[in-house]
Amino acid sequence: MCGIVGIVGHQPVAQRLIDGLKRLEYRGYDSAGIATLDQNEICIRRAQGKLQALQDLFTQDSINGMTGIGHTRWATHGIPSEANAHPHSSDKVAVVHNGIIENYAHLKEKLIKKGHAFTSQTDTEVVVHLMTDYLNQGLKPLEALRQTLADIEGAFALVILIKGDNNTLLVARRGSPLVIGEGNGESFIGSDALVLAPWTQQLRYLEEGDYAIVTPQGSQIYDIDHHPIDRPLKTINISADAATKGGYDHFMLKEIFEQPTTVKDTLDSLINADTETLKIPVNIDWNNISKLTMIACGTSYFSTAVAKYWFEMIAKLPVEVDIASEFRYRESPLPTGGAALFISQSGETIDTLEAMKQAKEDHQTTIAIVNVPESSMDRLADYSVHTKAGPEIGVASTKAFTAQLAVLACLCLDAAIKRGTLTETEAREHLQHLLNLPNEIYGILQKEADYQQVAHRLQPARDALYLGRGTNFPIAMEGALKLKEISYIHAEGYAAGEMKHGPIALIDELMPVIVLAPSDKWMVKTLSNLQEVIARGGIAICFTDCIGRTHIEKDGIPTQIVEMPESHLLTSPILYALPMQLLSYYTATLKGTDVDQPRNLAKSVTVE
Ligand code: G6P
Repeated sequence: MCGIVGIVGHQPVAQRLIDGLKRLEYRGYDSAGIATLDQNEICIRRAQGKLQALQDLFTQDSINGMTGIGHTRWATHGIPSEANAHPHSSDKVAVVHNGIIENYAHLKEKLIKKGHAFTSQTDTEVVVHLMTDYLNQGLKPLEALRQTLADIEGAFALVILIKGDNNTLLVARRGSPLVIGEGNGESFIGSDALVLAPWTQQLRYLEEGDYAIVTPQGSQIYDIDHHPIDRPLKTINISADAATKGGYDHFMLKEIFEQPTTVKDTLDSLINADTETLKIPVNIDWNNISKLTMIACGTSYFSTAVAKYWFEMIAKLPVEVDIASEFRYRESPLPTGGAALFISQSGETIDTLEAMKQAKEDHQTTIAIVNVPESSMDRLADYSVHTKAGPEIGVASTKAFTAQLAVLACLCLDAAIKRGTLTETEAREHLQHLLNLPNEIYGILQKEADYQQVAHRLQPARDALYLGRGTNFPIAMEGALKLKEISYIHAEGYAAGEMKHGPIALIDELMPVIVLAPSDKWMVKTLSNLQEVIARGGIAICFTDCIGRTHIEKDGIPTQIVEMPESHLLTSPILYALPMQLLSYYTATLKGTDVDQPRNLAKSVTVE
């Protein structure tokens, strides 16, 4: 969602701010803008739509200045428009904001009564007028910020530029992440480490409630109780090509094809390949955990849904999975001795983060699986395990998902060994399958022509159905989500056995039905469901292995088959997720949609 960048330095900042905004595009946005201080004047350029519009505006009518702020906006309060785009400003301040000021309506009313004129529909603008009001009362900028922070409620990250203070930016964090980077005589502010990567890798992460005054020489941070505080300087290494497409047409395609490496890197961090044993970096006392609650949003939620099967079948640990936004308000009684596991690519999704806080209050052991080190969830959880997927830019999650599954498979084996439900020999057998995954993934990704051919069948469809059982039921849901997200075809993922209870009514000769049927304990049942689809004239496409093919041919089932390698309980959902990603990618490109930034979606959802 909204992205923030700021620079206070000794060289012109405007073009660099726009370049920084390009690295924030992946978060999803509908307008963008920058503000600089030039000869003590606040100069602003804002544009609705893609960043190119802002770049064109800047090229025609540039602005100078060595201090500036920039923003990509994902609309919450007020339509996407130039007037609602950030920065918002008065004659004294310019403000960029990520998050929501929840009491803005009440504050706005008060400010209007005092004579302040508002020019946008946003909640953010109250910050501009509060700051201006306090400055007009003679308060110093830092004091005006303190008063403003005391007035506003909600979750936010703020960066404020003040006329008359050429070498200073004020920043504040409550809920939404913010990081300060230290460069050579310049300081930088960003929503994440990726935006700052080309400028500096020396970062200080603001903690909840922190605010700071940032100058070219560094920053003075204050904690929530207004005490000056040092936040540690951390070095975050992000490769320079992370934010480039590396020769691919889209980030999503690049990220799909990175999966042999990202899954390998993730497994290498958890398995000693020489001894075929686990080396999990955290020591979780699985034996004393009575129940595991797994919570996440979006694609990350589907990895919890797969892991439920694994933990219950292999580690014999009861698992409940929940969507974070539902869990938060369900008042679910969590058991004594329970653990709660949170999965998030970004580590910042607000619902998942708030659910984690709630689980902590309920005395659960909290475990995070995140892809972004130093993210809020990474720092809050009792235990945190990292996926090694590298920055994921495409809005539709791909490589983060398979890396999450790789971590979950290893944690499941760790739990099973500690709980005594697997012998070492059995565990080793599972690990051998996992260690072979990167090769299997590579092989599957080579069969592009097969997926392109199926994509041609999906392209004209209005609706599509994805069916699977067991660990591939969540993959059916993930496949359907991928198709919806980037090709805008309505799709449903269903437990194949549940099809008869509703979706079967939708099947006709226009309806593609993707059936996931690896040769596992569920296959024969799934193939019966496939027959039911065919009997009703549906366009059936079955993803199965050579054993499944033999069954289908023996029974004379007239379906198109896409052949997959033979798989195993822990590897099959990871392997079957890959063609689902490519099917949606190729269908979307046939339809000409914006694959990396699908309409209305955001990568990192930092509002409820
Ligand atoms: C958004 C993204 C999805 C992602 C979900 C959860 O909806 O578009 O790709 O799966 O958020 O994000 P998280 O960072 O918590 O995994």
